Amino acid sequence: MNKLLHISASPRGSASESLRIADVFTTAFAESHLNASVEHWDLWDGSLPDFAVGARAKMTVFSGNTPQGAEAQAWAAARRVFERFAGAERLLFSVPMWNGSIPYVLKQFIDVVSQPGWVFGVDPATGYSHLLDGPGTRVAVVYTSAVWGPGLGPEFGRDFQSTYFTDWLHWTGLTDTSEIHFHPTLTGDADAARQEADAAARDLAKTF
Ligand SMILES: Cc1cc2nc3c(=O)[nH]c(=O)nc-3n(C[C@H](O)[C@H](O)[C@H](O)COP(=O)(O)O)c2cc1C
Repeated sequence: MNKLLHISASPRGSASESLRIADVFTTAFAESHLNASVEHWDLWDGSLPDFAVGARAKMTVFSGNTPQGAEAQAWAAARRVFERFAGAERLLFSVPMWNGSIPYVLKQFIDVVSQPGWVFGVDPATGYSHLLDGPGTRVAVVYTSAVWGPGLGPEFGRDFQSTYFTDWLHWTGLTDTSEIHFHPTLTGDADAARQEADAAARDLAKTF
């Protein structure tokens, strides 16, 4: 194993809790994996292509044809994003909760890379197959929120963040997933929750 790719979904820079926890993780990872490199992919950096024409290309491929012209270009751009993602043996995602779910830039990433023949196959009788299940890739995910927390009632929102994103990972075939959570809630002890999340990140990173 020689590379950890950190894919981040918070645009909040130094104010970000998820980026801070991810930084604890990558620092501990680098200290305990001296021959490995760590790469950071900020999904807000403009590298994700628009997927309007890509959506047409996807349905062209889905129906057994080859995208042409603008569709071919959109398909190639999506493929470059997929290859960057699928080329890493270790993945770390940092994911804030936005409106009960994930930031739209991460959904854009999912919509760009989740293509037939790359991430999934589908059989009319047996359903989906999961094409990333081969190479033993490990995935860690940092989930953060500020209002919602485990054990709170629906008046504090619901978790469509970890449920959706971890399910998507498993659907791709990436089933070796670990989660680090930071959900201080509005009445909790944020500093204690920070220390707990940092310790969990450090522990996991050492043996990742
Ligand atoms: C656009 C937006 C939507 C948010 N929606 C929720 C939400 O639905 N539930 C919640 O508990 N926190 C919500 N939050 C708070 C963030 O999940 C929380 O502050 C998280 O730690 C942010 O991650 P970051 O600090 O890495 O940016 C929202 C924050 C933003 C900016």
